[in-house]
Amino acid sequence: MIKVKEALQRASLQLQGAGITAARREAEILLSAVLKKTRAWLYAHDEEIIESETYVLFQQWVERRAQGEPFAYLCGEREFMGLPFVVTPAVLIPRPETEILVEAVVQELQGWHNVKLLEVGVGSGAIAISLATLLPYARITAVDISPAALAVAAFNSERLQVAERLSFLAGDLYAPVRGQKFTAVISNPPYISAAEYLMLDKSVKNYEPRVALDGGPDGLTFYRRLSAELKQLAAPPQLLALEVGQGQAAAVSTLCREAGYQKIKQIPDLAGIPRVVLAKL
Ligand SMILES: C[S@@+](CC[C@H](N)C(=O)[O-])C[C@H]1O[C@@H](n2cnc3c(N)ncnc32)[C@H](O)[C@@H]1O
Repeated sequence: MIKVKEALQRASLQLQGAGITAARREAEILLSAVLKKTRAWLYAHDEEIIESETYVLFQQWVERRAQGEPFAYLCGEREFMGLPFVVTPAVLIPRPETEILVEAVVQELQGWHNVKLLEVGVGSGAIAISLATLLPYARITAVDISPAALAVAAFNSERLQVAERLSFLAGDLYAPVRGQKFTAVISNPPYISAAEYLMLDKSVKNYEPRVALDGGPDGLTFYRRLSAELKQLAAPPQLLALEVGQGQAAAVSTLCREAGYQKIKQIPDLAGIPRVVLAKL
């Protein structure tokens, strides 16, 4: 028999000991998820007794988190652009910096009509679904090589009520849309180099799908393919919008220029690191 406040104290100490910085907050969110109550409820009921079966489940979650399993996979959800996305170990957990890509695309496409967008590497659907909610006139095709990721994205599109303007296709880069024409191609491709992959934190390397991270020997394999294989489409898209890893913006801009794009813009994050390359014909 254990009270809410004691369970939280023990869990916070365990998470803190495992090097988790927001240990108390994470303990509260995990317990509120296990109890299916809000965090506010926990504060108001800290003397409440937790049933032993529920406490065992809570302890298992805390232990998994302490071992390094990402919080989003335990809770099964991550917020992106203010929307709740279901995430499973089949998909990359959407990162805050990817919001820069979504915002840049929305800004570029404001006022354009009948836009047809292609996202390559849709993962959880974070980018395509956010764009569908922010650009109500856009139709979006989303491709991923992972059928399991596509299932998560399709589920999210139903849940967030934009499924009718999205279509999901399994396959390698442009292969499923060969011969089609798009206004814009958007991608946050795998861009971790082989050397960086070895250095990744265990909470990323041991849990997130390698197919979503591994960008080949120098991290640029997908950018080379995304630019060189544009000829598989019926016409080059007017806009190419790519998230890039730290230090990749110059090389990716050159690839876009070589693919015939003349107006190139690099968009930095709050730390001044270029995170997005926008290329226009
Ligand atoms: C970095 S994740 C991006 C996921 C999501 N768009 C986001 O920003 O959170 C890259 C995605 O590309 C997919 N992918 C990897 N290789 C691919 C390929 N050859 N063709 C299509 N998609 C691929 C992965 O399965 C993964 O979902």
